[in-house]
Amino acid sequence: MKFDPNSLNIVPFVSVDHMMKIVLQIGVEKMLKGIAEYVEDDFKRWELFDKTPRVPSHSEKGVIELMPTSDGEVYGFKYVNGHPANTKEGLQTVTAFGMLADVETGYPVLLSEMTILTALRTAATSAVAAKHLAAKNAKVMAMIGNGAQSEFQALAFKTILGIEEVRLYDIDPAATEKCARNLAGRGLNVVSCTSSQEALEGAQIVTTCTADKQYATILTDNMVGSGLHINAIGGDCPGKTELHKDILLRSGIFVEYTPQTRIEGEIQQLDDDYPVTELWEVITGQKEGRTSDGQITLFDGVGFAVEDFSALRYLRDHYKETGFYEDLDMIADPDDPRDLFGMVQRAKTPEQAAS
Ligand SMILES: NC(=O)c1ccc[n+]([C@@H]2O[C@H](COP(=O)([O-])OP(=O)(O)OC[C@H]3O[C@@H](n4cnc5c(N)ncnc54)[C@H](O)[C@@H]3O)[C@@H](O)[C@H]2O)c1
Repeated sequence: MKFDPNSLNIVPFVSVDHMMKIVLQIGVEKMLKGIAEYVEDDFKRWELFDKTPRVPSHSEKGVIELMPTSDGEVYGFKYVNGHPANTKEGLQTVTAFGMLADVETGYPVLLSEMTILTALRTAATSAVAAKHLAAKNAKVMAMIGNGAQSEFQALAFKTILGIEEVRLYDIDPAATEKCARNLAGRGLNVVSCTSSQEALEGAQIVTTCTADKQYATILTDNMVGSGLHINAIGGDCPGKTELHKDILLRSGIFVEYTPQTRIEGEIQQLDDDYPVTELWEVITGQKEGRTSDGQITLFDGVGFAVEDFSALRYLRDHYKETGFYEDLDMIADPDDPRDLFGMVQRAKTPEQAAS
């Protein structure tokens, strides 16, 4: 990256207001497609990334996590929480912000809201996984859990996979109503259902994106027919899963970063050496994805730092042209690097200087 040494104290900041305007200016589907390309490119160079399971701080109500990674030139991290009971208080289940920095100097180069960006990158990653794993020509997707992530998921699958019908189910009919309303007129046939079973009728793909801090059973074994691709993204914490164990035992299982998914994903229900394939291995052609039309494929998505890095890279390459950002005076950068104390003194008011 090239930096202007005179402006290193200034960090471009994309606020929530900016991000909303960026999404509208670029267009949500175009942005999902763009982020998906960045995710796929980064999965192709997976081996050079610093990787670690995210660092969690668990509490009774939820979890707060840090998600760092680096490709050797750029460093990125995301702060994110997951609090399933928050919506009852009128708060979001998931909120996030994150940044990119220059590895050579350690100076930040972009700070951004990431609540909206996380929804975009999660949907983009889900669609990339399905592109490589789902039955070709899949047209119908069931969507169980119609909360904050759901519209982004539906639109990513429409624009990246060509899904034509989305079948919605949520235990809270108000969530389904909201999702159907938001998706109306966007080129999808939207069907509201009254059970998971009904949502799955005729679907080649099912996305589960529910929020509950427990071992939930959103899908039972009898609901899952041959050839189905399961995009399970709501089980992403120890003790928080969505699928019955029997479904896992019948599926080809694909994950992002195995050490993290063993802790957080659906596969926490299985032995530590149960065979799984990492998605990057399929994308780079080193391992097979779907092996037969009848195979059940499961993307056990928990969300990995590299995807956030990809989304931030996409943003870094596009925010300027939208004009939606502001400059933050974020890094103390004295003219004489060793005179931090002197720099502080220069902020004295005339009264402070006189006293
Ligand atoms: N894998 C990832 O990368 C990733 C990224 C973001 C969020 N998530 C997870 O995805 C989940 C959804 O996130 P969100 O922001 O949309 O949450 P949200 O709270 O906005 O929505 C969740 C919805 O699930 C519904 N629900 C709960 N139990 C259900 C059940 N048994 N059957 C049907 N519906 C049910 C709720 O009524 C709610 O409408 C969360 O668990 C979150 O932690 C994962």
